[in-house]
Amino acid sequence: MKIAVLPGDGIGPEIVAEAVKVLQALELPLELEWADVGGTAYETSGHPLPEGTLNLAKAADAILFGAVGDWKYDKLDRPLRPEQAILGLRKHLGLFANFRPAVCYEQLTHASSLKPELVAGLDILIIRELTGDIYFGQPRGRRTATDGHFPGSEEAFDTMRYSRPEVERIAHVAFQAARKRGGKLTSVDKANVLETFQFWKDIVTDVHQHYPDVKLDHMYVDNAAMQLVKTPKSFDVIVTGNMFGDILSDEASMLTGSIGMLPSASLDKQNKGLYEPSHGSAPDIAGKGVANPLATILSAAMMLRFTLNQEAAAQRIEAAVQKVLWQGLRTADIYSEGTARVGTAQMGDAVLAALRA
Ligand code: IPM
Ligand code: MG
Repeated sequence: MKIAVLPGDGIGPEIVAEAVKVLQALELPLELEWADVGGTAYETSGHPLPEGTLNLAKAADAILFGAVGDWKYDKLDRPLRPEQAILGLRKHLGLFANFRPAVCYEQLTHASSLKPELVAGLDILIIRELTGDIYFGQPRGRRTATDGHFPGSEEAFDTMRYSRPEVERIAHVAFQAARKRGGKLTSVDKANVLETFQFWKDIVTDVHQHYPDVKLDHMYVDNAAMQLVKTPKSFDVIVTGNMFGDILSDEASMLTGSIGMLPSASLDKQNKGLYEPSHGSAPDIAGKGVANPLATILSAAMMLRFTLNQEAAAQRIEAAVQKVLWQGLRTADIYSEGTARVGTAQMGDAVLAALRA
């Protein structure tokens, strides 16, 4: 089982190091190979997704990804920005189905900014389409005034688009996921304004015919954003487009107390996948050893489950994470009075110890 390890920027290397420790402790035949990605790759080779990194990712069975991005690259031309690395990997590898679970651990009910009774026992799954929508629309660009009076651009544009097969395949993935869980799917759109999302809604409604056992409802994205903080437990599985999914998954993550807890999987048609924490590179705390490695460790568990078919190992990791939380160990993002504050490596070591016990 070949795993490409792409730590990336900011806190990426610190959190990935902890997940690697955990993977290596499992005594599975895992072959790990590292490569640069994002700003780190730009520094060493002039491109955020060098060919060598892309080829390694293509050849691997699964990819463990940290995070990319840093404000210091904000002035670079768009194709050279660190974010293009993750977007390029998603596109080149056909990783269209993004699973972003938002689970509120019993131990962390009080870490949420919402009232405990609203989030206690929360377990929802956001399925975000990942290779279409306005992220990959054509055309995109800027227009400059032609009379030459104005310096710079006068207009910028990105085009929102989806094709029927793109919507169909993500709809199938979502209905199948809902079938395995609570049997309820909410498709989030903006069909009242956007043609792209009327199209989306119509197709999801069509695909529903294949899944009569799943209850489907449709919700506008603005309302969904509100319902997520009003009655988050009324959701089971949410399916939505690339941009709405980006936004709603960050929102949902905070219901659980911290985005530092949430893993994610981005899968292709064959369940080959890229696994990364739902959070970003957090350059403000990079190198300080305080970032929460649990989202990345839990992403490694998802990798074992979805791509490598090692359900038992995935459960061992998840149980170890539960155990350290019961022990009261907390990184800064989930710290509350009466618990023990630990750093990134201490948290990783505690998970290792729990795993071995
Ligand atoms: C995410 C991130 C990315 C996205 C960025 C880093 C390109 O926000 O994975 O949610 O917008 O998809
Ligand atoms: Mg995001």
